[in-house]
Amino acid sequence: MCGIVGYIGHSEAAPILLDSLSRLEYRGYDSAGIAVYAQETGLAVFKAKGRLKVLSDLVDGGKAVHGTVGVGHTRWATHGAPSDVNSHPHVSADGRFAVVHNGIIENYVEIREFLAEHGVQFVSQTDTEVVAHLLEYYYEDDMLQAVTKVLHRVNGAYAFGIVSTDHPDQLIAVRKDSPLVLGYGKDFNLLASDVTAVIKYTREVSYLEDGEIAVLSPDGVTVYDSLLRTVQKPRHTVDWEVSAAEKGGYEHFMAKEIMEQPKAFRDTVFPRITDGRVVLDNITLDRDDVRDMDKIYIIACGSSYHVGVVAKYLLEKLLRKPVEVALASEFRYSDPIVTPRTLALVISQSGETIDTLAAMREAKRLGARILAIVNVVGSTIAREADDVIYTWAGPEIAVATTKAYSTQLAVIDLIALYLADLLGTIDKAEYDAIVAELLLVPEKMEQILAARETIQYYASIYFNHASVFFIGRNVDYAAGLEGSLKLKEISYIHSEAYAAGELKHGTISLIEDGTLVIALASQAGVLFEKTMSNVVEVKSRGADVLGITSAALERGMCKTVDSVLTVPDTHPFLQPSLNVLPLQLFAYYVSLQRGCDIDKPRNLAKSVTVE
Ligand code: F6R
Repeated sequence: MCGIVGYIGHSEAAPILLDSLSRLEYRGYDSAGIAVYAQETGLAVFKAKGRLKVLSDLVDGGKAVHGTVGVGHTRWATHGAPSDVNSHPHVSADGRFAVVHNGIIENYVEIREFLAEHGVQFVSQTDTEVVAHLLEYYYEDDMLQAVTKVLHRVNGAYAFGIVSTDHPDQLIAVRKDSPLVLGYGKDFNLLASDVTAVIKYTREVSYLEDGEIAVLSPDGVTVYDSLLRTVQKPRHTVDWEVSAAEKGGYEHFMAKEIMEQPKAFRDTVFPRITDGRVVLDNITLDRDDVRDMDKIYIIACGSSYHVGVVAKYLLEKLLRKPVEVALASEFRYSDPIVTPRTLALVISQSGETIDTLAAMREAKRLGARILAIVNVVGSTIAREADDVIYTWAGPEIAVATTKAYSTQLAVIDLIALYLADLLGTIDKAEYDAIVAELLLVPEKMEQILAARETIQYYASIYFNHASVFFIGRNVDYAAGLEGSLKLKEISYIHSEAYAAGELKHGTISLIEDGTLVIALASQAGVLFEKTMSNVVEVKSRGADVLGITSAALERGMCKTVDSVLTVPDTHPFLQPSLNVLPLQLFAYYVSLQRGCDIDKPRNLAKSVTVE
């Protein structure tokens, strides 16, 4: 949801801003812009609708713009359509301030009216433009004072980067509820929405907290709290390589990230298993806390929510405690029943999704204990949770999540075992069996990925279907939800996931000759039999059925469906970790066949920092 960057130093700023923005394009790609200041040329602002490349071509990769301080932006449009004029940076009427913004100014209408009464003429439809004009309105001579007054005036979520022609030796960074990272270099400093934008230049970073204001100069960074007292920021060293955020020979980030899943799963799980036991050292939840818990609330959005749906089946089965899975965007406004005996399990790849963050804060306010599962180290959710378990997936760049989803599932497996062990609700034989199978998951993932050509073949048969249904029961249904989301978000094919037994209560009327149904049936016993009955129901209405099953059940499935994709057997709880791989690959190859922009699907952004 928009990416912002800023540079101040002694080198030409524009090429650095453009390069940094290229690593943030996953956050939005409706338009891009930069503002760079040089004494000789003043404030030069370039903006262009469309991908960053349009802007980059306009300024010859930055060579056409001179100056050593500037800000840049890549936009996911909220207020005002994607257009040159609505692109950031926005500039005050006197040309003194240029602002880039990630987030939403909720009271911008009222501020716009106020400024209009004071003679301001607006050029864009954005909420952000009010900030540039407010800076001009409040500015007397001191940037910090003007920024503070603006912050008192605006409501909403924001990360701002601000340059001023009066103070070209200062670059200002501020945040509330939107991420902002400071990067410390030798003779230069940077600001950005995400670490990926700065690590090519420096590995020394710190994370701005809500309400803090950073003043960057070429030689240093001073951070103030909201009362303008200086704050000592802890610095962190980023320990992953730039190459982790590059395609490494793959045509798309999504393909690379799908293939990285065995490694990501290993990195997430193996260090947390010692002598056959799950060890979550940095978790402060103890046996008494867990015994006291009378409910688990899982809070997440999108694919992370789908992980929550799998988790509900596992946790209820192993812990015998009620588990509710809530869409974060609904949680806050549903008067949730949360008490100090509630454990809120918050799942987020980015750790910045505003719906999830807001829901987490609400759960905390109501007294819940927060355990977060997060991929981005140092993100807001990670920092505000009582406990955090990181998914060691590495940077995920493709908008459609794959390896983050898989590692979130892995962490759910670990948590389920850990809590069941603390509660004494799992017997040793079952515990050992699950742990043993958990350690084999990466190998089995590799087998599925090695056979990806078969999936590509099926994609080449089915890529032209207008509508696809995913069906399954229990954790197969949960994996189907994710398979369906993957397909629709990157291929634009309409698809829906249904609990197999639910289809006949209405939706089956959509099944007709040639409708593609992807049926997941990987759980032996009654679940398999019941799902196969549902498969027969759709087959008799003309559906083309692609089955996904485990090796032990392959023969049973082959009899009924048109085509089968088989994954290795594992413990039933872990089956979603394997089943989701063919679904991701299917979505990927279908989109490839349809010529879609796989890494940057239309209308989407990776980090959703607006409600
Ligand atoms: C879909 C996808 C989204 C995210 C959702 C939550 O492929 O990636 O549905 O899962 O926006 O994002 P996080 O996990 O960052 O909170």
